Amino acid sequence: MWRCPLGLLLLLLLTGHVALGAQKGRGRRELAPGLHLRGIRDAGGRYCQEQDLCCRGRADDCALPYLGTICYCDLFCNRTVSDCCPDFWDFCLGVPPPFPPIQGCMHGGRIYPVLGTYWDNCNRCTCQENRQWQCDQEPCLVDPDMINAINQGNYGWQAGNHSAFWGMTLDEGIRYRLGTIRPSSSVLNMHEIYTVLNPGEVLPKAFEASEKWPNLIHEPLDQGNCAGSWAFSTAAVASDRVSIHSLGHMTPVLSPQNLLSCNTHHQQGCRGGRLDGAWWFLRRRGVVSDHCYPFSGRERDKGGPAPPCMMHSRATGRGKRQATARCPNGHVNNNNIYQVTPAYRLGSNDTEIMKELMENGPVQALMEVHEDFFLYKGGIYSHTPVNLGRPERYRRHGTHSVKITGWGEE
Ligand SMILES: *[C@@H]1O[C@H](CO)[C@@H](O)[C@H](O)[C@H]1NC(C)=O
Ligand SMILES: *[C@@H]1O[C@H](CO)[C@@H](O)[C@H](O)[C@H]1NC(C)=O
Ligand SMILES: *[C@@H]1O[C@H](CO)[C@@H](O)[C@H](O)[C@H]1NC(C)=O
Repeated sequence: MWRCPLGLLLLLLLTGHVALGAQKGRGRRELAPGLHLRGIRDAGGRYCQEQDLCCRGRADDCALPYLGTICYCDLFCNRTVSDCCPDFWDFCLGVPPPFPPIQGCMHGGRIYPVLGTYWDNCNRCTCQENRQWQCDQEPCLVDPDMINAINQGNYGWQAGNHSAFWGMTLDEGIRYRLGTIRPSSSVLNMHEIYTVLNPGEVLPKAFEASEKWPNLIHEPLDQGNCAGSWAFSTAAVASDRVSIHSLGHMTPVLSPQNLLSCNTHHQQGCRGGRLDGAWWFLRRRGVVSDHCYPFSGRERDKGGPAPPCMMHSRATGRGKRQATARCPNGHVNNNNIYQVTPAYRLGSNDTEIMKELMENGPVQALMEVHEDFFLYKGGIYSHTPVNLGRPERYRRHGTHSVKITGWGEE
C-alpha cells in the first residue's frame, strides 16, 4: 500500500534539501486553511484509493485535485493540517476519519443542504436524505443529444441551442410557444381561391416580400411564452397587407394584444386561438396599432389569462369604427381602428401560393410543429426521425401559424 512513484522520490529528495532553508517560516501548505474545518465535503469520494496513493512523512506532491483545490495522501496531512483526502484515514490508515462528513450534496464545488435544489437544463435536481441527487426526468426543449444527432445526420438543416428555450421542458414549449387551434373542418373546407398562372408564366427562383415592397413589410414580433401565434400571425399578415394595399399610406403594426385581450369569443388569449375567429374580429371590429395597444404578455406567467380588454370599437356610420377608449399606451394618441376585407383560403398548391404572395403580399400558413423544430438554426427544415427510438413523450407536436414572406433555394 505504501508506494512512492519514482518522480515523487526525486522530489522528496529535493524538498528535503529545500526544507533546510525553509525551517524558519511555514510553507504554503501549512498556511492554507484546513480543508475539512466544517466536515468532509465529499464523503463518498475515492481519491487516495483511486490512484492507490499513500505516502510516508511529508510529500507535497502526494496530492490530488479535490473540488477545485487539492488534498493530500501523505501522513503529514494528518499531523498539523487537515488537508487529507477524504478517504485518507480509511484507505491509508484504516481508521474512521476524524472529521464528520457534511450533511448535504455536492454540485459544482458547492454543498447543498438536504432538500436543496439546482436546475440541470429543464430538470430540477433535489438533494435527498441519503445525500444523493435526484433529478426530474422530463424531456427538455433544448436537448443536446438531439442537436448532435441532427447535425451529424444529413437532414439538410442545422440545429442549435436557442438560449430563450434553454431550461424549458418540451411540454412547456408545445404549450407556451405555439398557440393556434386546428381549424374546424368547416374552415378547412372553405372555398379556395384559385390563382391561375398565365400560359408560359415562370415564377422566380427566389422572392422576398420586403424587396418588392420596401418599408411595407414588418419584422415579426416576439410572442415570448404566450401561446398566441393565432393573434401574432394574423396581425402580422394583416399589417403587411394593409400597408401594401394602401400603397404605403397606412403602415401600422397591428396589435396582437388587442386580439389576445378583446377577441375572446371561442378564443383563449395566450392559451391558443383560432385563425378564422381572428380574421372575423379584424374585419368586423378592427384593431388599433401595436404602438397604441402594446403586447403585455411576455413578462406574464406562462399561459396565464390575458389581461382584460382595454378598449372596444363602435360603429360611427359609413362602415367606419372608432375606439371606445384612449390608447392603453398613454404616450400614444392615435387610436385609429384598422379593419380588413374578408380573409380567403388558398389551396395547398405551392405554385399558386407563391403567385398569391408575389401579387398580394405575405400569406398566413398553419404548420404542425414537432419537437426538433425548436432547435432549427438554418437550412431547409424537415421533420427528422432522430427521436424515433425514444419513448413517446420525446415526440410531441402542436399547431402553429406563421407569416410567409418569400421563398428561395439552398
Ligand atoms: C492522526 O491524527 C490523530 C489526531 O491528531 C492522531 O490521534 C493519530 O495518531 C494520527 N495518526 C497518525 C498515523 O499519525
Ligand atoms: C444553451 O444556452 C444556455 C443559455 O445561453 C446555456 O446556459 C447552456 O449552457 C447552453 N447549453 C448548451 C448545451 O450549449
Ligand atoms: C399547381 O398549380 C399550377 C399552376 O396552376 C399547375 O400547373 C400545377 O399542375 C399544380 N400542381 C399540382 C400538384 O396540382
